[in-house]
Amino acid sequence: MNHDLANEIRSKVDIVDIIGERIPLIAKGKNFFGVCPFHDDTNPSMSVSREKQIYTCFSCHATGNVFTFLMNYEHIDFKEALKYLGDKVGIDTGSVKVTKKSTKYDKLYDAYKLALKYYQNNLNSTVGKEAKKYLLTRNIDENIIKEFEIGLSLDKKDDLTKLLTGKDYDLTTLNRIGLTADTHDVYNDRIMFPLYDVAGRVVGFSGRIYKDNGSNKYVNTKETDIFKKGEMLYHYHIARDECRIKKFVIVMEGFMDVIRASTIGINNTVALMGTALTKEQINLIKRLSNNIVLCLDGDDPGINAALANGELLLNSGIEVKVVELPDNDDPDSFILKHGKERFEGLIKNAINYSDFKLKRLRDKVDFRSDEGKANYINRVIEETSKLDDPIRREVVLKRLAKEFDISYNTLEMRMNSLLKDEKKKDEVVIPKKETTKKDKYTKAFEQIIYFMLNNDWVITEVEEGKLIFPSNVMRKTCSEISYYYKKYGEINVADFYTSIQDKEDIMLLINSILAEEYNETTSREELMEYFNVAREFATKEEIKRLTGLMKKEVDPLEQAKIAEKIRKLKLGDN
Ligand code: UTP
Ligand code: MN
Repeated sequence: MNHDLANEIRSKVDIVDIIGERIPLIAKGKNFFGVCPFHDDTNPSMSVSREKQIYTCFSCHATGNVFTFLMNYEHIDFKEALKYLGDKVGIDTGSVKVTKKSTKYDKLYDAYKLALKYYQNNLNSTVGKEAKKYLLTRNIDENIIKEFEIGLSLDKKDDLTKLLTGKDYDLTTLNRIGLTADTHDVYNDRIMFPLYDVAGRVVGFSGRIYKDNGSNKYVNTKETDIFKKGEMLYHYHIARDECRIKKFVIVMEGFMDVIRASTIGINNTVALMGTALTKEQINLIKRLSNNIVLCLDGDDPGINAALANGELLLNSGIEVKVVELPDNDDPDSFILKHGKERFEGLIKNAINYSDFKLKRLRDKVDFRSDEGKANYINRVIEETSKLDDPIRREVVLKRLAKEFDISYNTLEMRMNSLLKDEKKKDEVVIPKKETTKKDKYTKAFEQIIYFMLNNDWVITEVEEGKLIFPSNVMRKTCSEISYYYKKYGEINVADFYTSIQDKEDIMLLINSILAEEYNETTSREELMEYFNVAREFATKEEIKRLTGLMKKEVDPLEQAKIAEKIRKLKLGDN
């Protein structure tokens, strides 16, 4: 691996910036804290150290340097992370060749590639004439067809099956990945929209009818090993870069909406594809941005989806705004009718989720009954108490007081009591590190290793001290540290981390060490105390071994010799 290059690049970037571009970080003491993106959480359990250039999560123990963060967060490999950061700081990474890792699913992806090509060909040949005409009536032109790789399945029942079985694919596999069912094709005579996973690979299709023949509007690929509907969002792989520039993400209902928005140059979009948001999808959205604009259909189901999904997103710490489309429009039809500027205006004027919710509360209230009114007022105050802006809170309360002829004070009192509760909830509580149960020997050895990573001279002391480490992985880690130090003449945790990319056992040990709060620096005297504990371990192990030996020994003379050895060891006289 290109360690020198990697270290140079790493030294030029600040992990706080790179992580901060992706998840909000707050400074607290020496470190920065954010909600860990590697497990399901809303607490800021991930700490990022500017000084050490590493991150650690107290909760799930995800740990590493800027490279591992990018690899895990962006689902890329080391070389891709290196190239990305190299570009960022202007260091040439031309010598680094990105090689695609092969996975057990490669053949499945290839089947989808073949199917995609086949469907695209159909649409572009004479058999695709009628489908093309339909697409044109829906204002989907050649450019869009190409960009979104739209295709056509034919009314033939088993042509794709034949094509793929003729190419070394067996029916079992094809059935498993949802391209065939029994001995025939899944898709017949439908316009084929490829569906992509987060890495941009085609892993499924949505087939739309284009002649009025009474069957379901869309047929989607079933859940398979590579197509998990709840773990993807349409257009995610394109939205990724775009959201970083635009700083927000627009969530739509269908892929037609996303496709339409792209024709007016709006690409920071993803589509839900008709499902309620899953946890995984919320995590994906968080990775795109913490500012989200819900732009769902204008009808009742769309409004209800906005209410439900908005709540979920808000609760996971995302800023949510909502676009209100006319009742019978979706983004697709709105853009077609009113064009780019009006749609951009809608996005710009999207209202806060809480305001949207307040407006919708009115829809359901029976204002004729006192109970209905009181309920409504209480709900409004409850929602308003979630607003951060005190002026906006006052505006809402004044309006309520006037509308229902209630004293402002009464409303304010109710609000204040809710605010007090909210405040308690809102304080940033940085979770405490869990202390793990490790015995004093493990702790001593781990502390010594941590000293080695932070103080060059300790490395030499450990070599000369001839310590016997209790486990293979500890031994390996120490020689790895020594090796690294000899090669580069210096050491720090972040760069050492790069060098152990492929050594999972060492990485796990380092992670486990970083999860503890060990001291960074030491004096020679203190170090020797740790050495003593470490040696005590070796002695104890030796006594254990000899005791076992003695029990098995039958010759009393030999037994006595061993007993003497044990006695000496116990006295520390060895
Ligand atoms: P819509 O019914 O809003 O689709 O469903 P649309 O985008 O307006 O499509 P057109 O304009 O009629 O062609 C939104 C999403 O729900 C899923 C699809 O993924 C669609 O993009 N859906 C809808 C289905 O899976 N099956 C259906 O029968 C309908
Ligand atoms: Mn539509």
